[in-house]
Parts: sequence; structure tokens; C-alpha cells
Amino acid sequence: MRHLIDICDLSKEEIEELLSSAQDIAVHPSYYNESCKEKILATLFFEPSTRTRLSFETAIQRLGGSVISCDDPATSSASKGESLSDTIRVIDNYADIIAIRHPFAGAALLAAQNAHIPIINAGDGEHCHPTQTLGDLFTIQQEKGSLNGLNIGLCGDLLYGRTVHSLINAFSYYENTTFTLIAPQELQLPKPIIEAYAGHPSINFVFAQSLEDALPKLDVLYMTRIQRERFSVEAIYNALFGYYVLDANKMKLAKKDCIVLHPLPRLNEIAYDFDDDPRACYFKQVKNACLMRQALILYLLKHRHDRPITPTLEKAAPHDKKCINPHCIISKDPSAKTLGMINSKGHPICAYCEHILS
Ligand code: NCD
Repeated sequence: MRHLIDICDLSKEEIEELLSSAQDIAVHPSYYNESCKEKILATLFFEPSTRTRLSFETAIQRLGGSVISCDDPATSSASKGESLSDTIRVIDNYADIIAIRHPFAGAALLAAQNAHIPIINAGDGEHCHPTQTLGDLFTIQQEKGSLNGLNIGLCGDLLYGRTVHSLINAFSYYENTTFTLIAPQELQLPKPIIEAYAGHPSINFVFAQSLEDALPKLDVLYMTRIQRERFSVEAIYNALFGYYVLDANKMKLAKKDCIVLHPLPRLNEIAYDFDDDPRACYFKQVKNACLMRQALILYLLKHRHDRPITPTLEKAAPHDKKCINPHCIISKDPSAKTLGMINSKGHPICAYCEHILS
């Protein structure tokens, strides 16, 4: 069964196919309005969301399909103590495809292990968010004309910002990307991600102290919200809130064609005075992400019986070491058992959250 747990579950060729399919859907929407007739998408959202859930629901309906939805954890069986595996085994009988969002890393993988229909990860804790990345790639390609040779500034919460993690993984398929990391020490990119790409042939990380230092060199600036819900100590969040604010004045330092992206919702990290600048592309991203979700749903339903390209589930094996990440689905769900994988540096990592096992 094909699933989308993280972006590299798709090959580069498949991503390119989705990009052209989204382009075609944008130009000929009516050709597609019955292509998922009688198909049902279940949106299973255990974490707050407006745009992502509505984007998936819009996508399936624009393809002629329909939606069943569970968007309030408080009214779902999970609140009665049902395991995620059981919930998925039930919904498996109602829907043709599931989009799941969950506060714990690895929840989408656990769902995939219990499903006979494709699972799409719509965000699993601080881990990954591959469909946001599909929309980001589409937007960058449209605005910059290419996905190669870019200097992309990642600004804000790089520690907990799952959209950033998936975006970096996606660019491992493209040539000569510099990621300029603009983050306070406390919110810097997780070490395992920095280590995984050390010496990578096409990804290079550079660190910048401030937006002002980074801006003149960037082709793309990807702003992010500080993820309040992931902090265990509110005072730390409060101290970091407002650390980086982009406004029209600061953007005078940037190239004339440096685009600004944001997965939204924004808080104060982009001032409203920049919104009318043609380089502000965050609302185009919303439109593009919906087109990419249409392309993805079509693709996964068509290819659902293909062999997965990343053998995550096959490689994963019970391990004598334990995952101690408190944000991993292992710590939350009684049906999840430790699964180990070996990462590119030879370390045993948790198949769900990718933290080193201990
Ligand atoms: C992002 C998310 O949920 O990770 N939003 C989204 O899906 N568009 C970013 C965020 O919540 O800050």
C-alpha cells in the first residue's frame, strides 16, 4: 500500500509528476471534477487545524468525492481511551483514503501500519508535514522557475516546525541548495537533522545571526510561527515570542525577487504592511497546497497497490533499545511498539519519530 508519511516516500519523479498534475488541475479544473466520484476521504484531526483540514476537504470535493471528518479529539473515541490502531482499523471500513493529523510524532506511520487504504500524514507532532511541502515546492517552482540552486532562509522555530523538516528533506532531491538557518539557539534545527545532512552533496546549512544579515543573499525566505503548543514551559515561549519580525522596511534589504513564504497561521512574525508586496507569496501557497493535495489524492488512489519506494515499514524491526522521546507516539499509544531503524550515520533510531534509541 502506498502512503505519504514523509516527503521522501515519493520519488523525485513522482514529485515532478505531482507538480505537473497540479498545474494541469489549475488550468483545467473541470476535467477533474468527477475523477474521485464515489471516493471517500476521512479527515482525522487530533490537533487544531483550519487550513489543512479544509484544504484536504476542498481537494476531495473538487475531485467529485466526499468527506467524513473527525476534527475534535474531545468528541472522538480517542477521548474514551481507544488506541489509534483501533480507530484506524474502524475507519478503514468507511473510507478510501485517510488524512491524519496528530500531536505525536510517528502517529501517521502507526496509522499506516494498521490500514488497508492510503494514509496521508497531515502533520505528526513536531516531526513532518509532507503535504505542506508539496504546496511549498509548487509555489517555489512557479515563482522562481526552478527548484535548483536556491538559497532558502528558514526563520523562526526550526526545532518544532515540522513544515521546515519536510521541506529540507524534499530539497535532498534537488541540486545545490543552501539553507540559511535564522533561529534563536533554543529553536535551532534538531541536531539529528543537521547531522544527517552533514557532507550531503546538495544540501548545505549556513547559520545567520539576524534576518538583516541573511536577507541580502536569499532567494526564498520561509518564515515560521513559534510553536507555542510544543513548549512545556510557557515562560520559554514568552521569552522567544517576537524574536524575528519581518516587515516592509526590512524587506528593502532583500533581493527584488526574493519570495517570502509562510505555512500559516502567522502571529506577529510577518507584519501586515508587507502583504501587498508582490514578493509576499503566503496566500498563493494556500491555493497551491490545495491543488497539490488534489494531485496527491488522485495519485495515491490510482497507485495504492504499488510497492512503497521507501521501505520504512519493511526495514523497521523490533529493537531491544527504547525510544524515550516523550513526544513520540510510542509514549502515548498502547498499540505502538518500539521499532528500530538504522540512520545514514549508522545509529539506531526510532522508526516513528527518528530520535536516537537508548
Ligand atoms: C503548519 C502546521 O500545522 O504545522 N500549518 C499548516 O499546516 N498550514 C504550521 C503551523 O502551525 O505553524
